[in-house]
Amino acid sequence: MTPVLNVSGYERVKHDMVRGEGCYLYDAAGRSYLDLEAGVWCAGLGHNHPRVNRALRRQMDQGVAHIGYRYTTAVEAAAAAALLGALNLPDGRCVFLGSGSEAVEFSLQAARCATRRPLQLTLTDTYLAAFGLAGRRRCEDWNCLDWRDCIGCRRDDCSTGCHRLAPIPWDKVGVFVFEPGSSSGRVRFPPKPLVQTLARAVQDRGGVVAVDEVTTGLGRTGAWFGFEHYGLAPDLVAAGKGLGNGYPVSAVAMTADMGETLLARGFHYAQSHQNDPMGCAVAMAVIHAVEEEKLVDRCRRTGAHFLRGLEAIRARHTMVRDVRGRGLMLAVELAPGSATDVYRALLGRGILAGCKPEADLLRFYPPLILTEKEIDRFLDNLDGVLDDIESGTGG
Ligand SMILES: Cc1ncc(COP(=O)(O)O)c(C=O)c1O
Repeated sequence: MTPVLNVSGYERVKHDMVRGEGCYLYDAAGRSYLDLEAGVWCAGLGHNHPRVNRALRRQMDQGVAHIGYRYTTAVEAAAAAALLGALNLPDGRCVFLGSGSEAVEFSLQAARCATRRPLQLTLTDTYLAAFGLAGRRRCEDWNCLDWRDCIGCRRDDCSTGCHRLAPIPWDKVGVFVFEPGSSSGRVRFPPKPLVQTLARAVQDRGGVVAVDEVTTGLGRTGAWFGFEHYGLAPDLVAAGKGLGNGYPVSAVAMTADMGETLLARGFHYAQSHQNDPMGCAVAMAVIHAVEEEKLVDRCRRTGAHFLRGLEAIRARHTMVRDVRGRGLMLAVELAPGSATDVYRALLGRGILAGCKPEADLLRFYPPLILTEKEIDRFLDNLDGVLDDIESGTGG
C-alpha cells in the first residue's frame, strides 16, 4: 500500500516515471512517453528546461529560496518587471504567490476591496480555483452566465439589452472574471462580442475585469495572454501553471490604478510564500525563455498545424464529433462513452493525452516546444487507435 494519499479524482495509471526531457517522460524501463498535457498544463517550456534549471540552481546557491515580508531581493522586482513587460503594463504592480487558485483568490479579494461590490460575474464552463471565493461559487456572491446559447448566435451587435444579459444586476457586479478558454471545462472559447459586451458593461459602471490566465497565459493560445484575442484591457491578470514550468509559482499583475487603489484602501493579503525569491527567479527565467525561443509565434503555427490534422481525422472517423483549439490548447470530442478507451489505447502507444470522460473529451495542452513532426506522429497514432476501435479490433 502506498503511503501517499491520492484524492485528485484521477486514477494513477503509471507508477514508475523516472525522468523528463523536453516533450517526453521516461519510465524505469527507459520507455518514452510523449507528454501532450505538460503535466497539468504547466511544463510549457518542456521538462528539464536548462534555463529554468540554471535559475533554480543559481537561486539555491545564493541560499535564499524564501525570505520574510520585511526583506526583498533584486530578483523580485526584476521578475515583476518582466511579467508586467510581457503584459504591456509597464507602470503596473505585481505580486507573486504559490498556485493558480491563490492568484485567482487574490484577484477576487482585490476586486472586492477596490469596488466594494458584492457580486462576481463569470461564464458557466469556467474553472477558476480549488478553494476560496471562486472554489465555493455561492450564489449570493456569483452570477454565472450560461452562455451555451451564445455559441451559435450570429448577431454581431451583442448588447446588454439581449434577454440573456438583461437580468444581470450590473450595479452590484464588482468584477467580471474571465477565463479565455475553458480549460477544465469543455475547452470552448467564448465569443468575442459577448466577452467585450460583458467587460464593457462592468467597467463602464465602475466594476473591474479580472482575467484568469492560469492556463491560457505565457503563449499557450498563440498570444502572450489569452485575453489578447478579445481586445480587453483587464484591471487584474492572474497567471500560474506555465509561469513556473512545473515549479509552484503564480502571480497577479494589475494596472497602476488598481495598485494605487489597493494601497490607498489598505488591502491586506499575507501568507508565507509571497514574492519568494525562488519562485520569482523561475518566473523570470520562464518569461525570458518564452521571449527568446519565440514560443508565442511558434505555438500559433504549430497549433494551426495540429488543428488542421485533427480536422482531417474528424473527416475520416464518425467517432469524432468535434475538434477545436486555439494555439496549443486543443480538444477532440468523441462519441459518448469512448474517451477512456481512446486515452488508454494512446497510453499503450506511449502517448499521454488529457482525458475528461464525463465530457467525452480528449485534451491536448503540450509543451509549446512540440514540433510538427511530433504532432504528425501523434496524429498517425490517433488515426490508428480510432481505426482499431471503429473496426472492433481495439479499445
Ligand atoms: C483556468 C484555471 N484557473 C485556475 C486554476 C487553479 O490553478 P491551481 O491548480 O494551480 O491552483 C486552474 C487549474 O486547473 C485553471 O485551469
